[in-house]
Amino acid sequence: MPLFVDIHSHILPGLDDGPTDLATSLELVQGLHALGFGIFHPTPHQKARAWAPTVEQRQQASEELRQALAKNGLELEIRQAGGENMWDDLFLERHPSCAFPCYEGDKAFLIEFTPHLLPPALPEQLFRFRVAGLLPVIAHVERYPSLVKKEAALEALEGKAALLVNLSSLGGLGGFGQKRLARQLVKKRQVHAVASDAHGDPDLHYGRKGLHWLERQLHPTEIEALLCENPIRILQGEIPE
Ligand SMILES: [Fe+2]
Repeated sequence: MPLFVDIHSHILPGLDDGPTDLATSLELVQGLHALGFGIFHPTPHQKARAWAPTVEQRQQASEELRQALAKNGLELEIRQAGGENMWDDLFLERHPSCAFPCYEGDKAFLIEFTPHLLPPALPEQLFRFRVAGLLPVIAHVERYPSLVKKEAALEALEGKAALLVNLSSLGGLGGFGQKRLARQLVKKRQVHAVASDAHGDPDLHYGRKGLHWLERQLHPTEIEALLCENPIRILQGEIPE
């Protein structure tokens, strides 16, 4: 199996609620490597009144981590950092000019919502980004039952966004409801990729359980699609079948 490509993580030191220092950041990446991840597109939070690291801060933290990995003989790739954009007033301010952090290549961007404050007419709003040449990638869809639990709601999102679940949710982090929904979405082939959303040790612990569940449920080629091939296609702005 090739190394997994992680398109949702908080591994960079000192930028958000992920690791506070470089040593902890290095340990987290080593833990993710033990699970099979090897290529990282970090997505520090972009959230009003909490965290909004600048391009320079993201670049500096990425470079520090790359150097620490090289020093420790770990040949892992830390690619250009994007951001996990909360759909809040900061995002709405940046929205008209698409001035929010995208993934490397500027073809796709990661978005999350406050579960009880889902944007109105979301499919239509997502469609506008598609028309503008940008693919919205929805983080941890298992946190938004009203978006993905009913077939009709899922159909409304079709062609408009790529859907991610957290590996740790498949393992039980976030509670029974999220685990059940995440597993159901994977079993029904209704999500496009799996990512770590790693902040710290609990994500590794539950991520391991999630990976074991995937290994019991899916053929290795399907696991490879969810963790290697589809993340790459999403970064290219495509929605995998
Ligand atoms: Fe996240």
